[in-house]
Order: sequence, then structure tokens, then C-alpha cells
Amino acid sequence: MRKILLRGMRLIDPATSTDERIDLLIAGGVIAARGVGIVADQETRLVELPGAVVAPGLVDMHVHLREPGREDEETIESGTRAAVHGGITALAAMPNTEPTIDTPAWVEYVRSRGRLAGVHPIAAITVGREGRTLAPLGELAEAGAVAFSDDGRSVADPSVMRRALQYASMIGRTIIAHCEDQALVGSGIMNEGLASTRSGLSPIPTVAEETIVARDILLAQSTGARLHIAHVSTRGSVKLVRRAKADGVAVTCETCPHYFCLTDDDVRSYDTSMRVNPPLRSAGDLKAIREGLRDGTIDVVASDHAPHSLEEKQVEFDAAPPGMIGMETLLPLTITHMVDTGILSLGKAIALMTVKPARALGITAGTLATGAAADVVVFDPEGRVEVTGDWFRSLSKNSPFVGSTLSGRVLMTIHDGQVVFEEDLENTCGSSEDNGKRAAESNELVVGV
Ligand code: DOR
Repeated sequence: MRKILLRGMRLIDPATSTDERIDLLIAGGVIAARGVGIVADQETRLVELPGAVVAPGLVDMHVHLREPGREDEETIESGTRAAVHGGITALAAMPNTEPTIDTPAWVEYVRSRGRLAGVHPIAAITVGREGRTLAPLGELAEAGAVAFSDDGRSVADPSVMRRALQYASMIGRTIIAHCEDQALVGSGIMNEGLASTRSGLSPIPTVAEETIVARDILLAQSTGARLHIAHVSTRGSVKLVRRAKADGVAVTCETCPHYFCLTDDDVRSYDTSMRVNPPLRSAGDLKAIREGLRDGTIDVVASDHAPHSLEEKQVEFDAAPPGMIGMETLLPLTITHMVDTGILSLGKAIALMTVKPARALGITAGTLATGAAADVVVFDPEGRVEVTGDWFRSLSKNSPFVGSTLSGRVLMTIHDGQVVFEEDLENTCGSSEDNGKRAAESNELVVGV
């Protein structure tokens, strides 16, 4: 395996409190050395991209791959190709596939197929995600399940959820809660408010999310278990998590870019890729989500990458399945809406997508410490991304961001010491033919970004 020297770029590694211009040497699949003036030998590929940032490969803890069952929408192969295009080197795959990931064999199937990026299976809490019988959590953990979730719906019965938390705690795993009370959601399609009145679409009140957030926090507190709340979208949920943390409850939570850059007002377009669960909320909720990210109440930004076929999405808004793809826009949306707006420093934003999700999942990832696996992203924080349908590597194209221009362009992704994605630098960064020749001659990549 060829060595790689990333030379003289700004290295941001929140896990080791690093933000400085230093070299990073990758050898034997690990971070071999960090420092100033590391010398490259003949076998080393030298990469110098002035203006670029070197960071740990991103960790996306909320991804829907559709294999098994809906390989027309996403496979593990296409999903990991999309992941590395977005700078993601580790992802946690949700179990709401067909069939559900609720047996050790299916856990092993998903875990072993991540070639381009690490795929960490999340197994179901209950058999078939039906909310009745607990799945064999111990065996699923032994097979490689990093956490448990019935994502897509809540575990409605609090006694089942309580037992799940007790078992998960015994085996040292986290329960990831999808918080929506089905009775309160009813036949709702979008957030309850002025926008739902105007559009005539059935409303979902914010309290549908908050009652389950409150319930699961109380259950986590009483069992001492580790709880992670998925896709937090409301002001009330942020408040509940803030208070629970202050009370010492072992709770973490995530939000997704769409909750800090879109509101229910955007549903006016009736673009079905805006239909998500939980739904896009009000401007007030968006503000609270941004504040929760700023003050550390929200630990993680995850994509909730939810591919759906064109046929299924090209229908009336209320007939479309919920979900939007998100792995490839995770970094640019976070930079554009949270960093460029001055709400978060780049270092804090990177922490929300690297070391913090790794900790919430209990996996070893998200750091550039010497000796760690060489999972690295190199990106240009100011590089423009023109989002088009063709730009996505995902098999599905259901993104409301098609047509937007964002900041934060991934130039190179390295997984286990191998380059798994590399921007077509000559075409896209306007580097000269000369640079191309030089690169070929000396293995050196010189591109002005
Ligand atoms: O919008 C969503 N889509 N939310 C979920 O919780 C599930 C996901 C999916 O699987 O499509």
C-alpha cells in the first residue's frame, strides 16, 4: 500500500484539539506521523492543496441504505460511493430495510459489505420493528450491531422501550430513539402552523415529537441507559435535551441539515423531497436548532440519508414517502448554513460530524491521532459545489438542494489509507495542464484552490 503525505495544509482534528498547518503521513493504513517538515521518500504520494483543510473522515450516524430489499433506491455499494463523495468514511446504517435487520445474519451481511467506507449496522430494537417483541439484542451486538433503533417509527409501548433500554445498557450499547407519537401524528403530512393552514396539508404538531423525547429521557434516566435521540427538529425537544443533560441523564442527540436550513415555509413549493419525518418545522424551531448546535446541546449533525425512487416521489405531496438523500450535502450544507453564517467555527462543525458521532455510537473513528486508522477527508471550505442530479453518486436523487450552490467541496477521501474518492482536479479546479503533467511526473498534486 502506497504511503501518502498530505503536506502543509490546515489540519483540523477536534479529537486531539488540533487546528494548525502541519503535515500528515499515512502509511500501512494508519496515521503514521504528524508534524512539520515530514520528508517524503520515493514511494510516497505527495499531496499539496493550498487552501484545503485536512480533517478526520466524517462519521454519519444516520443513514438509510436500502439493501436488502430496495436495491433500486440504494445498495451498500452505491451508498458507500455516495458517502465517500461526501467525505464520509464511516456510516451507521439504519435497520428499516426489507427484511428488517433484526437477526445476527443480516447484521453480519451489512457489516461485511462496506468496502469504500466503514458500514456500522444499527439493528432493530423489536422484531420486524413492530414494537412488540424485543429483538435478540445480545446476539445482534455480538454480530456487530453498534446500536439499536426502530427508526422510521417510535417504539410505542413504553414498557417495551424500558426493557430495551435495560438490555442495551447491560451490553453497553446505545438505543437510538425515533421520537414521534403515532397517535398525535395521525394522518399528518407537514408541520402544524400557518404553512399547513395555507397549504391545506394535514398538520403534525411539534408535541408529537416532544412527548416521546420527554418519555424516553425519563426512561433513560430511570434505567441509567444510554439514549441517543435521532433527528431533533423542534424548539421543545432542544429544551428537553438541554435540561436532561443538566440533570446528568446519559442522553445525546442529533439534528440534520434540513432542520437548520429549511422550514415548513419551503413546503410551499410542494417539492416532495421536502417531505420528511419528522417534518420541516417553523422558523422559530430552526433558530432553536441552530442555538442547540451552537451551545452544544445538540451533539451531532447526521444526514438521515433516505433514498426514494423517482416514481415514488413523483406523486402528490401527501402520497410521497418521507425522506431526502443527504450524505453528499452533509458537509457543504453545514459549512454554508452554520460556518459561513458565523454560528459555528469550522472546528466545532467538524467535531459534530466526526468525534462526537463516533463517541455517541461508541465506535473507534473520527480522529487523526497518530496510530488511528487513516480515514481522512481533504476539502476546500470555500470551494463551490453546484448541486445537480448528476452530481450525486447515490442511486436516488431526491434532494431539495438540486439547483443550489453551496460552499465546502470535498477534494479527496481516504479510507484505511487508500484513496477512495478523488475530485477530478484538472477538470473541476481549473488546474493547468502543466500541473497535470507535473503530478504525473512527480506524483505530486499541485492545485490552486
Ligand atoms: O424521513 C424519513 N425517512 N424519516 C425516517 O425516519 C425514515 C426515513 C426513511 O427510511 O425513508
